[in-house]
Amino acid sequence: MDQAVLGQSRVPPKITVLGNINLDFSIQVERMPERGENLVAENFELVPGGKGANQAVAAARLGAETVLIGMVGNDNYGRVLRRRLSHEAVNVKFVRSDEDAATGMAFVVVTRNGGDNRILSVLGANLNVTPDQVESAHRAFERADFLLTALGVSEVTVNRALQIAADCSLPALLDPAPLGKKPPQLWNSASVLTPNQTEASRLSGVTVQDLPSSRVAAEKLARRGISRTVITLGKDGCLLYDEDGARVIPGFRVQAVDPTGAGDAFGAALAVRLAEHATLEEAATFACAAGALACTVRGAQPSLPTREQVEELLKRTRRDKKLKITAL
Ligand code: RIB
Repeated sequence: MDQAVLGQSRVPPKITVLGNINLDFSIQVERMPERGENLVAENFELVPGGKGANQAVAAARLGAETVLIGMVGNDNYGRVLRRRLSHEAVNVKFVRSDEDAATGMAFVVVTRNGGDNRILSVLGANLNVTPDQVESAHRAFERADFLLTALGVSEVTVNRALQIAADCSLPALLDPAPLGKKPPQLWNSASVLTPNQTEASRLSGVTVQDLPSSRVAAEKLARRGISRTVITLGKDGCLLYDEDGARVIPGFRVQAVDPTGAGDAFGAALAVRLAEHATLEEAATFACAAGALACTVRGAQPSLPTREQVEELLKRTRRDKKLKITAL
């Protein structure tokens, strides 16, 4: 494994993130309610979240110079979230305040055994990030090593960002979540796509239910122009597909309490290591470790690991020296 992951001095990679910023209303429950059931929950917490903000904070904690393009409402929640992002060393120069819409909110229900969550988001101000706003952040694309984006802002805006990235020869990682009725037109211009199995099914038209069908879906996505597909498999790690074919990077065993934000930690970690010129296998191993650690703490941003924590897990499991890769 290269020097960058061994804690030696490195030039910080530059990551530009376009995405949503939310305040998460998170509650813990013994079990998910049945249809029509009125259940008493426990442990309510208000935590900073939103896929874009989570990815930006994760990238910053992993050592990247990070710029976030996004929108909050002109309200107290928005002001607090913006301040928190600055404290995390995320550059918020391109985060604007919307006069007409409230800060995005997400309602997160997590089961106490840590295995399961359900999220409903009200995107609010996030939907008012316009293609013009992205264009005015052109410098953040020119200076970056990687664009990281997901679908928590409007489709036209994600399209514009993918277009600018292509024009600047900037590699882009697209997490196709939350996947609406259709993906943005330019989704297949991303250089790395990180769907989960449900999203891989919808994007490829292949019913994904196991590793062989994940592989077929990834092959189909490759035929549509995706050069690197990384299908996330939760605790089982991820499936990689690129010109070298398909292989699986196994996950890390941890005591999971809340998976919220794990996918964002995964995407950010993958982008950070690819920007540091790691191989796809090295980057995916690092990303699986970051995602696993994010499951061990409640809430989205409070759970995002630091570089040191990820490196410690890799070392403890001896996967800093020897990668585990299963051929398919
Ligand atoms: O990926 C987790 C995030 O999804 C939460 O923080 C919530 O805000 C939703 O956007």
